[in-house]
Amino acid sequence: MFYEPKKGHGLPRDPFKAMVAPRPIGWFTTLNDDGTVNAGPYSYFNAVGDNPPVVFFSSGSSEREKDSARNAIARGEFVHNLVTWDLREAMNATSEEVAAGVDEIELAGLELAPCNLVKTPRIAASPVSFECRTTQTLAIPQDGENLDNMLVFGEVIGIHIADDALVDGRFDPEAQKVIARLGYANYAVVGGTFRMLRPELQD
Ligand SMILES: Cc1cc2nc3c(=O)[nH]c(=O)nc-3n(C[C@H](O)[C@H](O)[C@H](O)COP(=O)(O)O)c2cc1C
Repeated sequence: MFYEPKKGHGLPRDPFKAMVAPRPIGWFTTLNDDGTVNAGPYSYFNAVGDNPPVVFFSSGSSEREKDSARNAIARGEFVHNLVTWDLREAMNATSEEVAAGVDEIELAGLELAPCNLVKTPRIAASPVSFECRTTQTLAIPQDGENLDNMLVFGEVIGIHIADDALVDGRFDPEAQKVIARLGYANYAVVGGTFRMLRPELQD
């Protein structure tokens, strides 16, 4: 089949996300205006470079402005926490659109830990957290009524790795059971990994 997204796909469900999969999940803690901590998952998320390390996430597809993007812009910082199999339910709980004043961290049964270079705390149970300084935003042109179709970029200025997540000095996403987002309601656990060196590189 061929379809033009603007004209519709004619399928029971939009297949787009299932065809850009797996996507890493950015799980962000940010500070609300009143100083409480917000958490939310975003799978339009990735690293775009490592010198310096930069990540971005895309906030949109909603009739309301989302907290993570608003806070990351207002505060100039955000924290990404890696999602593992053990944290899947808590991550999902933080995607719920709750009324103002409801503590999403408590709702998800999470504990926080302090960061070193930013005021925003990290999720204690996550094996990896990136302390990020918001560097750029980019509005995505849109047809609909979305309030915040926005890319937010952040430089990773500090990285926490749990001691037991490093084996022989390496971080292994398969051993940590990192999860990723597919399409529909589907997820993947990192597995079936294999090694292949670039032709000109030695290990
Ligand atoms: C795994 C997962 C990935 C998601 N990815 C995105 C995304 O990339 N962009 C987005 O706008 N919403 C995404 N959502 C929905 C948001 O998490 C949801 O709107 C949430 O309420 C936003 O929280 P916040 O307002 O506290 O930032 C995702 C939800 C889940 C469960």
